Amino acid sequence: MRMATLSLRGVKKIYDGGVTAVHDFNLEIADKEFIVLVGPSGCGKSTTLRMVAGLEEISEGELYIGDKLMNDVEPKDRDIAMVFQSYALYPHMTVYDNMAFALKLRKMPKDEIDRRVKEAAAILDITQYLSRKPKALSGGQRQRVAIGRAIVRDPQVFLMDEPLSNLDAKLRNQMRAEIIKLRQRIDTTFIYVTHDQTEAMTLGDRIVIMKDGFIQQVGTPQEVFDHPLNVFVAGFIGMPQMNFFDAHLLKNGDSYVIDCSGAKVALPEKIQTQLKANNVAAQDIILGIRPEHISFVHADKSEGALAGKVDVSEMMGSELHLHVSVEQDNGTTKDVVMRLSTSDLPDEFRGGIPYGTTLHFNFPGSLVHMFNKETEANLI
Ligand SMILES: Nc1ncnc2c1ncn2[C@@H]1O[C@H](COP(=O)(O)OP(=O)(O)OP(=O)(O)O)[C@@H](O)[C@H]1O
Ligand SMILES: [Mg+2]
Repeated sequence: MRMATLSLRGVKKIYDGGVTAVHDFNLEIADKEFIVLVGPSGCGKSTTLRMVAGLEEISEGELYIGDKLMNDVEPKDRDIAMVFQSYALYPHMTVYDNMAFALKLRKMPKDEIDRRVKEAAAILDITQYLSRKPKALSGGQRQRVAIGRAIVRDPQVFLMDEPLSNLDAKLRNQMRAEIIKLRQRIDTTFIYVTHDQTEAMTLGDRIVIMKDGFIQQVGTPQEVFDHPLNVFVAGFIGMPQMNFFDAHLLKNGDSYVIDCSGAKVALPEKIQTQLKANNVAAQDIILGIRPEHISFVHADKSEGALAGKVDVSEMMGSELHLHVSVEQDNGTTKDVVMRLSTSDLPDEFRGGIPYGTTLHFNFPGSLVHMFNKETEANLI
């Protein structure tokens, strides 16, 4: 039984010329785990992946696969296969030969090569294209060939760097589902790089959110969604994006309350206890609330709620997406996005809400996220 655990310990990359692309990267990856590295352009995802593959030298720190130190092991001896964003297929070879190429180089017996290529082609549903050249394939089919080329090698670790980013939205969704199926069929450890939070959330057992070469948070999709450690993660994970307000955390004797431009948000017992346990002081905060956690308050019950004017109203069928401009008490206006379920709306607004309408809304204290205004770290 092969055990492909990976361990990255204090891994750092300094490129020639002095750019530090990855700082102190620490991660333990379990056997057969699907890890997604996600973050904006330039945050160091590809650099990290290329260090694991051996395509880029590790400047500091250690990389283990199983219990073997890999820093100085040649890429071809790491038992890793990598799929790139640009499929990098050989244009003059058929699909079959593209997939067989690496195995031929390894001098694998012909019948074994044939068995592996046909098996991978069946998994990826490209059997009917084996004799075609890449230029006679669609983008999605080429991407399958690129993945097939990695599968035939039966690697311990599968690395994928934005494999779907060249595909249109529909095909990307389809291939995302294919990768989920593929993962169930081939028993391997995956490290998958993307800048798309939806891909990260749907594919990863755990996701690693990076920014400027630093890991911001590691956790399951649910963990990073429910409890983002800082404002960056909170804004990066979730679509549409979390709303942020300038607000104040006030302390009234032993209990905490949030003041958001005059609207008071009561906090439930559980959060009160956590704040107390962390000995959190009253302070200016960044208050985060997800668009789906805001509820509409009818005009006649507007007391204690936030008010804003409708800028854009998008009827999506079962949901209404609203952009509302809210005046904060510091004088600035804030664009707030709300996702309302159509069935919860008063009859007058069922067909959409006219531009300029004043709306009152609030949100439950149990679903807010509170961050320190300076450090942007989660208070609990
Ligand atoms: N060969 C290189 N020499 C010097 N700097 C580099 C080199 N390759 C990448 N960098 C820099 O290292 C940082 C991280 O780059 P990297 O390619 O790892 O980012 P990324 O997260 O994969 O971004 P993207 O989403 O755009 O692919 C960037 O600032 C980049 O400019
Ligand atoms: Mg990249």
